[in-house]
Amino acid sequence: MTDSLSLKDLKKKILQLSEEYSKRVHGNNLPGNNARHPQYDSFEDLSVPYAGRVFTSDEVVAAVSSSLDFWLTLGPEGKALEEELASFLGIKSTLLVNSGSSANLIAFSTLTSHLIDKQRRIQPGDEVITCAAGFPTTIAPIIQRGCIPVFLDNDSVTGNINCDLLEDAFVEGKTKAVILAHTLGNPFDLGRILEFCQRKKLWLIEDNCDALGCSYSMPIDLAENLGFNQSSPGLCPGNKSLVKWTGTWGDLSTQSFYPPHHLTMGEGGAVNIAGSLKLKRPAESIRDWGRDCWCPSGVDDTCGKRFGWQLGDLPKGYDHKYTYSHLGYNLKPLDIQAAIGRVQMEKLPSFIEARKENWSYLRENLEQFSDYFEFSLPTHATSWTSNGFNWDNSGCRTECSWFGFMLKVRSSAPFSVCNLASYLDSKKIGNRMLFGGNIVRQPVMVQLKKDNPSSFRVIGDLAGADKLMHQALFLGTYPGLTQSMIDYELDIIQRFIKSNG
Ligand SMILES: Cc1ncc(COP(=O)(O)O)c(C=O)c1O
Repeated sequence: MTDSLSLKDLKKKILQLSEEYSKRVHGNNLPGNNARHPQYDSFEDLSVPYAGRVFTSDEVVAAVSSSLDFWLTLGPEGKALEEELASFLGIKSTLLVNSGSSANLIAFSTLTSHLIDKQRRIQPGDEVITCAAGFPTTIAPIIQRGCIPVFLDNDSVTGNINCDLLEDAFVEGKTKAVILAHTLGNPFDLGRILEFCQRKKLWLIEDNCDALGCSYSMPIDLAENLGFNQSSPGLCPGNKSLVKWTGTWGDLSTQSFYPPHHLTMGEGGAVNIAGSLKLKRPAESIRDWGRDCWCPSGVDDTCGKRFGWQLGDLPKGYDHKYTYSHLGYNLKPLDIQAAIGRVQMEKLPSFIEARKENWSYLRENLEQFSDYFEFSLPTHATSWTSNGFNWDNSGCRTECSWFGFMLKVRSSAPFSVCNLASYLDSKKIGNRMLFGGNIVRQPVMVQLKKDNPSSFRVIGDLAGADKLMHQALFLGTYPGLTQSMIDYELDIIQRFIKSNG
């Protein structure tokens, strides 16, 4: 029946059918504010996830189209997405990878490259400052590469590093870098961290996995003292102050494109080369088996002397394609994933806004329960009002596209965070604790310490990280939520408080 169609028309027909199929089966995955999103009278038998894939038939069509092309490995779609993401962030280069965890591994490993000046290169035994509450694969690469994480406390209000003990954590000649995540889309205090990193000549990796589309601003004079100006990468709308996206302030930053994140490719992530472009070569090599050759897949001899190099102790003319200058991995995603990511990029601005709106709606409506809950504040905010935030006098500001809505159950409340979490779970309302809680209490870290007492260091008592571990959970803010889903969630919380408060 289709034999008479040209290949072009055959593909067109397949894509039309794919679109029709997706429109019929994926209604629940539409953005919450899409008019075609199914509306339900009751959620009693449904779930309200904390996060998930949000897409239209466009992503499905893009995935099918790329599948039919069957390039498979990272190729034309990947190259285009790398350019689009770099252009969105206003930076020169980004590398797609297969997860946010891989991105962190590559970013950290890049700083161990022999291509980096010996004084600044991270070597086994060196120390890296981070904070205790967060996601495990932000810090895993430090240990996997033979280095020592030094844990500082988290501020339990922002969820981010408490910067007060930074100086205490620093050891001259040993401390080489700071790695931190912008917790749940709340930018950490970049003003203080950057000042510290620059004064101590430390690398900064921003784990931006939960924060694509968040921004940080600082007064122009402070920015200029830190070496930033109006021609710095990553500028986004703003005037009196210098406003830049998170993920563009440090040397390197990382993204995750796993479904709960600001955009998704299914699995996926990126390493953003936010600082010197010299970091691109080692990052790419480490992503791609450790090879010295930089040809994209399917392309040969970009350097024009594939059989003309003499490197290491290899014979002159040994194939550059099989010449290795790093101990690397293979952490590339598929081109099909990138095709999905490209469609998601077009939706990113609306996703970013939806997360802000959902957070504000939850905040406004949960205020009535503030006897039971403590709420988060963006870094540099001092209080919340229904008209907005009040800010500290640093002149720095944050704009959060929230990954989640964090609340802490007050220690005076007649119920615990576990009571609340399991009640929400029984009503199919998605909620999560703050990732690994205080990571040094996790079995893996307890075992590490037992095996080797100097495998990591802790500064201070980590009371903030413990508080987050004992009292915090977060609800969804993702763009798939409809207003009635959030209202149902609020109703369930009210019911819980009525019977337990
Ligand atoms: C802060 C942070 N870093 C890294 C990751 C890891 O990303 P992935 O799941 O893509 O490996 C996550 C995952 O949610 C995360 O929240």
